[in-house]
Formats: sequence, structure tokens, C-alpha cells
Amino acid sequence: MTAIPWTRKHIISLEDFTVDEYNAVLTTASSFKDVLQSRTKKVPALQGQVVANMFFEPSTRTRSSFELAAKRLSADILNFAPSSSSLTKGETILDTAKTYLAMGANIMVIRHSQSGVPLNIALEMDKLKSGVSIFNAGDGLHQHPSQGLLDLFTICSLLDEKNPHISLLKGKKIAIVGDILHSRVARSNINSLLAGGAELHLAAPPTLLPSLFAETINNTYRERLFLHWQLPPALEKADFVMTLRLQKERMTDYLLPSLREYHQLFGINYERLQYCQPNVKVLHPGPVNRGVEISSDLMDDPQFSLISDQVTNGVAVRMALLYLIGNSK
Ligand code: CP
Repeated sequence: MTAIPWTRKHIISLEDFTVDEYNAVLTTASSFKDVLQSRTKKVPALQGQVVANMFFEPSTRTRSSFELAAKRLSADILNFAPSSSSLTKGETILDTAKTYLAMGANIMVIRHSQSGVPLNIALEMDKLKSGVSIFNAGDGLHQHPSQGLLDLFTICSLLDEKNPHISLLKGKKIAIVGDILHSRVARSNINSLLAGGAELHLAAPPTLLPSLFAETINNTYRERLFLHWQLPPALEKADFVMTLRLQKERMTDYLLPSLREYHQLFGINYERLQYCQPNVKVLHPGPVNRGVEISSDLMDDPQFSLISDQVTNGVAVRMALLYLIGNSK
């Protein structure tokens, strides 16, 4: 593994990621993808380091993927389950983090339903001069950087398998469809895809895509971000379509008439793909509400669907991220 200069200690958001950082992740993930396809599948890169997986909100993909990535790098992994932890006895999240720090954790991977929790723990860990790195594994409506980076890797390595780099996105039209208002995945992807030069088209009902949404995005390239309240103009000649889960657990108001009507107007199916480029590919971060955001047959069709590739690539990308922050200067 060639040493790539990396100085970022915590990964909280993609808002301030640089092109060099994106490319470092893509190149390193590509090397780890080769490792994962080899017979041994394992390297000693993080031997002796401790990764604490602290998920205060449910997860299948991100949690398991970080765990497998840490194991493939030969790190020791601590898995935290809130329902059987001392949180139930009143211990605070910060004291939980300090407990793992006292056990020697070097990297804490944190998911929480409230935006800002990983950042706050990072600030507290810095105050203690602990040297611990914090990784945001998804916080509220804010950011989900590892999902954004694995989506970026999936697209870029499809465009150039041997040399995935972010400028491959230049001139590509990408549609993001669905519950954008509640999506931390959309916010991370908007940052990375715009940084690579893509033209981004967001489509959703007005209740899930407020007209002032673009103003809330902290990105220099907002002139390449377009909002639509109907699907066809967003899909017209699109190279990639990202569908998003309807996050019913975050919908506090009556935002949709019915799931059936949502599927009729914004669901992605073969018929809708006719608007796109003939070789269009479809992504979804998962978990999927089958037959709502995307038709079940399209979801399982390897000619169009990259959903399984996203999950597979997630391990290589998270190995790259743990490796880079585990060896940051
Ligand atoms: N995409 C994603 O974050 O999935 P999980 O909630 O299963 O981790």
C-alpha cells in the first residue's frame, strides 16, 4: 500500500472535503478492493488499534461493513449495543465514549439519530487531547460521509475500474430522487458529486424537497444543482439515478398522501428509465422499501441496479477510511 498524505483526524462531513481527499479515498479503496478479492482478504494495517462501533440508532449495512472493514485491517473491534448498555441506567453518551477511550479505543465510529452528536464527541475528545479519531456513521438529517464516499467509489469505479478518480464525474447527469428533506445520504452525496463536476438534479414532492433546499447546502458549486417537483425533467438523459428511502421514522407531519401515490409519481421502474441514457445505472443506499422508491424487479436487475455493488464496495471504502484516519499525521 503506497502511503497517501492524509491529515484529517475526524470524518464528520463531506462539506469541506477536498478533491485530493476524495481521490485519496478512491485510490486507497481500489487497492483494498484488490485485497478483498485476494485469497487472504486481510492485511495487518491496523494491527493493535481498537475500533469502537458505537451505533445509537439501528443499522445493518454501515455497522456490519465497518466491523468487517476493521477486521480485514486486523484491528480489534468493540461493538456497542445501546439496549444492553449502561445507557439504560442513565450513563451519558459522552461518558460511554470516555469509557471506550479508557479501554484504549483509537477510532470511534458513531451513529446517532440527532445531528451533531459525532461532532460534539470529537470536540470533547480533542479537549481531552485523547488522539482518538471520530467517524460519523450517520447523524440525524446531517451527513453520512461513508455512504457518500462508497456511492462515489461505486460510480467512479464503474467509469474507470483501474483508476477511479473524482473528475470522472465531470459532465455526468445524476438524478437524486425521493425523501431529500430527511436524507443525510443526499446531503453527503450532493457535496461529493458536485465537487466532482456532475450536474445534479433533485426530484421529490414539494413536501420532501422545499424550494429553499439548495440554500441550505454549503457548497461552492450550487449552480450545478437543480430542483424538480416532477420526475421526467430530472431523469431526462440521466447517467445515474439515486433513489432514496422514504424515512417514515423521521416524518413528523403528514407529508405524503399515500405510498401508492408516491410510487406512481416518483417511484423508479423500467418505464421511467426510458427517459434516461440507455446505459443508466440505479443506486439506492438501502434499506429499501421495495415497490415504493423502486420497483422490486428493477432493484434486483444487475443490468441496471448497482445496489449490491454499493454494499460490496462499502467494505473496501470503509477499510480505506479506517486506514487513512488510523495512519493520519
Ligand atoms: N445505508 C445505510 O446507512 O444503511 P444502514 O442503516 O443499514 O446502515
